Amino acid sequence: MFNFFSKKIGIVGFGNMGQSIAERINARYKVCVFEKDRAKTKALIGMSVAEDIDQLLKRSQVIILAIKPQDFDIVLEQIKTSLKNKLVISIAAGITTDYIQKTLGKARVVRVMPNIAVKAGQSTTAICKGAYARAGDLKFSSALFKCLGLVFLLPENMMDAATAISGSGPAYIFYDMEINRRDPAHIPEEVIEEYIKRLTEAALAVGLEQAQDFALSTTRSSISLAAQKTATLEQLRQMVTSPGGTTEAALKVIFSGGSWVQAAVAAKERAGQLSKK
Ligand SMILES: NC(=O)c1ccc[n+]([C@@H]2O[C@H](COP(=O)([O-])OP(=O)(O)OC[C@H]3O[C@@H](n4cnc5c(N)ncnc54)[C@H](OP(=O)(O)O)[C@@H]3O)[C@@H](O)[C@H]2O)c1
Repeated sequence: MFNFFSKKIGIVGFGNMGQSIAERINARYKVCVFEKDRAKTKALIGMSVAEDIDQLLKRSQVIILAIKPQDFDIVLEQIKTSLKNKLVISIAAGITTDYIQKTLGKARVVRVMPNIAVKAGQSTTAICKGAYARAGDLKFSSALFKCLGLVFLLPENMMDAATAISGSGPAYIFYDMEINRRDPAHIPEEVIEEYIKRLTEAALAVGLEQAQDFALSTTRSSISLAAQKTATLEQLRQMVTSPGGTTEAALKVIFSGGSWVQAAVAAKERAGQLSKK
């Protein structure tokens, strides 16, 4: 039987997500990273660091694009000639597989929406496949992201809804704990249940079929990450909030007294506006 773990994974971008993913999968897969800001990978040990994208492509069988949506076009142009039909996994919010295929042609693309809880190995991750990806690519990507938490297979038209719940949802929870001065290591069970209920309602409002599963996993993992206290609640919230992004749109609603349902609807709407199709 084919051994998934023998695959060499190249990661473009060693920021919040790229670094967390690399560190978590490094025990199982051979990982190579390329980051524009050399300072971030200078002291890196236990992982190979490529000098440039070409070297990363030569060393990898699968490429994970962990860069911001605004940096996408440049990187797609850089990889398109030397990709040689390798599997491309994109974790960027709002970038559709169709959009990637417009530059890369009939490339094998899998789109993934993990969340900040990758840092605790407890991500709630949504996955869908592009038109030219094979069933085995989806299987491989699912196995890879199961190293980082729970995986939900979704049709691509539900990815914006997932972004509003599992992507941005941790920020709703971090903010609520922040303003109520809760110690994440000692959250009463009834408060956790209340968060799950509110997030389930939000997930139903944006049309997620597995609403309760998404809400449960997103809530418990966000609290578990916060309880590790590697960052404050405010810092965690900021890690999820890109300027002009889906979480910022949702938090604006919450800051002005709106519900999580209204926030999630705003986040989904923003994901649609940002979406590159
Ligand atoms: N944060 C979340 O909770 C979350 C959740 C789900 C999905 N995502 C998605 O994950 C992606 C990454 O988000 P992030 O929060 O990890 O962003 P980030 O912290 O800004 O990390 C991106 C990294 O990529 C680097 N980079 C930019 N252009 C590059 C290039 N051409 N080659 C190599 N490296 C390059 C950036 O360097 P510079 O800083 O020098 O530009 C930065 O270090 C985004 O597309 C986002 O939509 C994020």
